[in-house]
Amino acid sequence: EPTMAPKVLISDSLSDAAVQIFRDRSIDVTFDPSLGKDKDRLAQVIGDYDGLAIRSATKVTEKLLAAAPNLKVVGRAGIGTDNIDKDAASRRGVIVMNTPYGNMITTAEHAIAMMFAVARQIPEANASTHAGKWEKSRFMGVELSGKTLGVIGAGNIGGIVCDRARALRMKVVAYDPFLSEERATQLQVEKVELDDLLKRADFITLHVPLTDQTKNILSAENIAKTKPGVRIVNCARGGLVDEEALAEALKSGHVAGAAFDVFATEPATASPLFNLPNVVVTPHLGAATTEAQENVALQVAEQMSDYLLTGA
Ligand code: MLT
Repeated sequence: EPTMAPKVLISDSLSDAAVQIFRDRSIDVTFDPSLGKDKDRLAQVIGDYDGLAIRSATKVTEKLLAAAPNLKVVGRAGIGTDNIDKDAASRRGVIVMNTPYGNMITTAEHAIAMMFAVARQIPEANASTHAGKWEKSRFMGVELSGKTLGVIGAGNIGGIVCDRARALRMKVVAYDPFLSEERATQLQVEKVELDDLLKRADFITLHVPLTDQTKNILSAENIAKTKPGVRIVNCARGGLVDEEALAEALKSGHVAGAAFDVFATEPATASPLFNLPNVVVTPHLGAATTEAQENVALQVAEQMSDYLLTGA
């Protein structure tokens, strides 16, 4: 008797590569990226599916899971799983998987790009030059070489940022309770406490997930401990930095610049950081390269297929 092929729904904009993998593995796949932004319609259809493949737009809430009696696996094509209620999923026996490696280089590169952008005010200089102003004396920047970079979180992405920063001849200090002395030596970084990092860094970049421990890690109090003239880069998660407090510190001149790819509320159509001088912002593009999106789509489709077809 023929068994029914498992059914997978892709509700966010995943690379075509994922659709192809599911088909090659004889999985019945539906690709509808509009569903990630329409939770009511998603809740109406989710009951049919064994697997759900997502990026960050789809919110996997308790309510959605309650409407999904057949669901066995949620696959996140990317790293952060903070858009998934993992407790609710495990209570229902739904496996949550991510792809921790596919976009790490791409995200590290974005953080480095943002650091250059804020050091040299490239976006503002670009807008001014396009406007025909030729403001050569307005945009005085700073060098990265010889400066101290404080890396908060030296895991997969942070570790690559450390490596790239060392190649740029920066001195790197890292705060990460999970970083071993051995790994720190290998990365040629100095392992420090958070207060020490805040005091010493000319640039700070964050590479930690958003958890109860890391939420507001750059609070008003911690921002006040930073070195005057510091520039802060966040390509990790919104909510790690108190945006209101940072905006105040930028206005007072204590913080010289900020480059943010992620925001406490996304999609971010407003933020205390918007329209301040020396603030560079991008719309959560950290993982947005053709290479990374292909990697994460392939990985998530392979992992989900393995699980649905063999339980492995
Ligand atoms: C991630 O956690 O991998 C990123 O936020 C990726 C994304 O934007 O999908």
